[in-house]
Amino acid sequence: MIPIDHSFRKYFPGLYQQQKLVYLDSASTTQKPHSVLEGMNEYYQQYCANAGRGNYTWAQRVTDGINSVRAKVAAFVHAQHASEIVFTAGTTAGLNMIAYAWGLHNLRSGDEILYCPDDHKANVLPWLHLQALLQRFGTTIHLIPYRITSSGEIDHENIRAKASSKTRLITLTHIHNVFGTLNDIARIRTLVGQEVLLSLDAAQSVGHLAVDVQELGVDFLSFSGHKMFAAPGTGVTWIHTRIHDQLSPFLVGGEQEIASPSSSGETHLHTYEMPHLLEAGTLNIPGILSLGRAIDFINDITLTTIEQHGKTLTYYLLHHLQQIPEVIFLPGIAYSKRPVGYGILSFYFEGYTASELGFILSSQNIYVRVGTHCTRGRAAQQDSVRISLHVYNTTEEIDTCMAILQELTSV
Ligand SMILES: Cc1ncc(COP(=O)(O)O)c(C=O)c1O
Repeated sequence: MIPIDHSFRKYFPGLYQQQKLVYLDSASTTQKPHSVLEGMNEYYQQYCANAGRGNYTWAQRVTDGINSVRAKVAAFVHAQHASEIVFTAGTTAGLNMIAYAWGLHNLRSGDEILYCPDDHKANVLPWLHLQALLQRFGTTIHLIPYRITSSGEIDHENIRAKASSKTRLITLTHIHNVFGTLNDIARIRTLVGQEVLLSLDAAQSVGHLAVDVQELGVDFLSFSGHKMFAAPGTGVTWIHTRIHDQLSPFLVGGEQEIASPSSSGETHLHTYEMPHLLEAGTLNIPGILSLGRAIDFINDITLTTIEQHGKTLTYYLLHHLQQIPEVIFLPGIAYSKRPVGYGILSFYFEGYTASELGFILSSQNIYVRVGTHCTRGRAAQQDSVRISLHVYNTTEEIDTCMAILQELTSV
């Protein structure tokens, strides 16, 4: 068991070497603990081989390592089968994969996809792209936008109003990357029934709180390793067994195989079963191994402790930002009656552009994110500042940041 105490920073070499640095950009990527780095180094230095290809000792060790991380991820998100876990390059790659491995082969003219224009572009653009692609081949699908409320939550009534018998899939976000609110996904499942598929972008929730795919009732769940202490370039898309027979490979090659045309002239795909069906080519082996170490690290702290720490810090941050009249919040928990946050708050600061504020804070060793945060909707109308927290952040760090903002108000 790892306690979050005053010496917690020692687990993160980057933070430990820069004691004064205040890292408030974990929604972009998290810092990496020693154990994760060691796991990657061990692979490179002790048994660097490919997975699923050879039968010599190193190759077997890699294959076993990947299998064991797959089982670990399955347990972590409470999947029923390890075959539901597909390794990807990250959330963006996973969300694109859903459009091509499922959407391309199952959507017909007139079908509708519900999406939120305020979401991270990775949850929007794959569907726009697929729509344009299908149109070139004479298939017209419709993308129907749904709304987010002023407190940053998915508007359930709007979803209910927009869903129709033609809705095939709704793409949702668990915790919004700018607004920071947690959405009640299980409730949306009950609203729309079992027929429609639900794809959940869980990039900002996995690693912050317990995520249970069975409780959520979704069909796809995508997340990135690098936002939960693992290496960049590794992610996971969990896909419910109930739709495995609707999937086709979107990348082929390597150990997969496409048969030549049969005697009837048709080409049949003979591919591996899930999850290998969607994992053509050499996987990001060190990244996947790092994900296993990251899950061990999270489990050692426990998700309950991480979630509680996140809530306490976010509330503390909100309370202090609310004392500064120059702060204008974007949609999010600042507008909730009972604010519960998971580490993300975004705001404008009167008198300074977001980028000016970013420079000022950076010059004081405080790292925040500024800009439109990979969105194209409401949060993209004007650059804003986003503070995002994780398990290594402290109330003292928030105090340091607030003191600088307070100083700016008195200039
Ligand atoms: C909500 C959300 N979705 C998708 C992504 C894309 O993640 P990645 O860049 O790891 O693919 C991010 C990253 O910021 C995100 O916050």
